[in-house]
Amino acid sequence: MKNLIAPHASETLKPLFINDSSERDAILEQSTSLSQLLLNSAAAANTVMLGAGYFTPLNGFMNKKDAISVANNMVTTDGLFWPVPIINLTTDIGSIKESDEIALLDPNVDGTPVMATQVIESIEVLTDSEMLNLAEKIFGTTDNKHPGVSNFLNLGNILVSGPIKVLNYSYFPKDFPGTFATAPEIREMLNKAGWSTTVAFQTRNPMHRAHEELCKMALERLKADGVLIHMTLGKLKDGDIPGDVRNEAIEKMVELYFPENTVIISGFGFDMLYAGPREALLHAVFRQNCGCSHLIVGRDHAGVGDYYGPFEAQEMFNQDIVKNSLKIKIFSADHTAYSKKLKEVVMMRDVDDHSKDDFVLLSGTKVREMLSNGEELPPEFARKEVAEILMKYYQSL
Ligand code: ADX
Repeated sequence: MKNLIAPHASETLKPLFINDSSERDAILEQSTSLSQLLLNSAAAANTVMLGAGYFTPLNGFMNKKDAISVANNMVTTDGLFWPVPIINLTTDIGSIKESDEIALLDPNVDGTPVMATQVIESIEVLTDSEMLNLAEKIFGTTDNKHPGVSNFLNLGNILVSGPIKVLNYSYFPKDFPGTFATAPEIREMLNKAGWSTTVAFQTRNPMHRAHEELCKMALERLKADGVLIHMTLGKLKDGDIPGDVRNEAIEKMVELYFPENTVIISGFGFDMLYAGPREALLHAVFRQNCGCSHLIVGRDHAGVGDYYGPFEAQEMFNQDIVKNSLKIKIFSADHTAYSKKLKEVVMMRDVDDHSKDDFVLLSGTKVREMLSNGEELPPEFARKEVAEILMKYYQSL
């Protein structure tokens, strides 16, 4: 067995899911007598990620000091590099007190079942200006039109910290069977495939020719063993393609256009933050936890609108704190598009004799518009079989 890259700041993965089923049943049974807190979707997604080992070495939700320190300096009060506060914010704490053990209820599953338990270390209030500072640091803006910011500022300002025990992975295993996987499961897949150099491709979108070629270029230039196409399976903003459609489109593309045994498709249960540069760092942390040696960071990674510079996410990785803390490396990609001159997909920096008109460029808005109007996407932009799946979805709306 080849050695995979070590998890973040830890020799072993620390999934907070209770593996032993009888122990899990016992905790569930006891949880009926505990006070209950209905999580918001962001905290539920954090719970899934903590349970699944993606957020190794954290043991639960951060307190106020850690959250502020992480937001301001990307480091916990104990000196752990961490790019985005992992917190449980609520609007109403009811009669819950510090040192209680409570049951955390899942807002995303019918009947709001218990998904985890938490020992309450502290209950702290964040002032409006502290909330705005967190938003500014995480998202680089406090603009309420930013979907991540408006979501974040509506979560509440009571911060409930402490360690958790996770009892299930919410709706992800049922809604995405065969796709949702935990960090230990991904390490197992890489080991089974015999891959030691794996490049992860983060995506929340169906993959077009540019994305396909980006993965192939990374494979070739890094001489990697394989690529992990790793999808966001949690909540997305309005207008993004739903997870099941994207999954189908990506599976089709891989089946038809990649050499066998060079791709593993999988996904993780986290809501998209749209936090651009900071989210790129979080993406890197949890791909390291999955055993990937590299993460592709291209144009406007995890971005939305015009909030971030196209390559700002890549620049984050030049900072000493990042270089000294992470073992995973990034594969920095320039804007990639089909060249009409060369009749192939290229990275723009590799072809300095081209002008803008030499490329087939379609914005996300244009693609949506075309599909909604029943207009076919050009084959230079999207594989025919992928475009058909997307067309079927848009025509069903
Ligand atoms: S993300 O929000 O999940 O990052 P998306 O699925 O759009 O969004 O992008 C996945 C990855 O591909 C990101 O690393 C992004 O920077 C990169 N990417 C997407 N389109 C291009 C492109 N045309 N050129 C270069 N990189 C791209």
